[in-house]
Amino acid sequence: MSIRWRLALAAMLMLAVAGAEAEERRITVAVSPDLIESGLMKHMLPRFSLKTGIRTTPVPLEPGVEADALVGPSVDGGRPVFRGGEAVYLAGLDEGGRTELAARFLDWLGSEIGQRTVASFAPDGKPLYEPAAGARVEVKAPAVTGDAMAGERLALVHCGRCHVVGPKNRMAGIGSTPSFAVLRTLGDWERRFRAFFTLNPHPAFTQVPGVTPPFDKARPPPIAPLEITLADLDAILAYVASVAPADLAKPLKYE
Ligand code: HEC
Repeated sequence: MSIRWRLALAAMLMLAVAGAEAEERRITVAVSPDLIESGLMKHMLPRFSLKTGIRTTPVPLEPGVEADALVGPSVDGGRPVFRGGEAVYLAGLDEGGRTELAARFLDWLGSEIGQRTVASFAPDGKPLYEPAAGARVEVKAPAVTGDAMAGERLALVHCGRCHVVGPKNRMAGIGSTPSFAVLRTLGDWERRFRAFFTLNPHPAFTQVPGVTPPFDKARPPPIAPLEITLADLDAILAYVASVAPADLAKPLKYE
């Protein structure tokens, strides 16, 4: 082989190797959808990629999602990285993901640069997130303060007319309403349950004494109202924590 061919071949091989490497240096980061909506990911991920050469694909954190790293308010075994509103966001590795590259992402996020990047995200001149690496949080603890047995009873009474809450009303519920087992698969189920009375369709018919304002007299609830105390909701959360997440063969889109 002539020297010219050899060089050409070597160059081609190098390109192929570089190509393969470039392809591999990419991670999928599943984040709770609000982080995509707020624009934080668009702000943060390119800065990480620039620094490390690791590209990132953000996807919404939802049941069945395949990712390398996870960021959200209830990531199992995650460590706190930042705060936004009431929520503390945790970051962790997905089992079976590309651990090494994903670990670099977590390290970066917890580093001074990563934390500054989060803090500098201020779309309307006001920072939306606050660094929280090093913060200590007990995320899981509140879920089990209530009494799960009482919670099951309360869930059947209050939620069971629309939701399948468990085996006891398996055949009831309204078809289009997600079952508790399906909701339980969401990474941030706890946040959603805690705030269910603020999430549609509940505000139109739900009252939490001392928390929600009274119904508008001009617009009475269209259906039988639901009145529940925060203590009862704690019990329901304890029950939901004990509900086995539905086994979803396919990734489920549920927003
Ligand atoms: C009158 C029917 C009805 C009752 C009663 C009801 N829900 Fe719901 N709930 C729904 C429907 C319908 C949805 C789905 C809304 C959607 O898909 O946007 C839902 C969704 C939810 C969600 C997910 C909300 C989100 O946006 O992520 C939670 C959590 C929830 N319900 C909790 C409860 C709890 C807890 C109770 C009882 C204390 C309850 N619901 C009572 C109809 C009901």
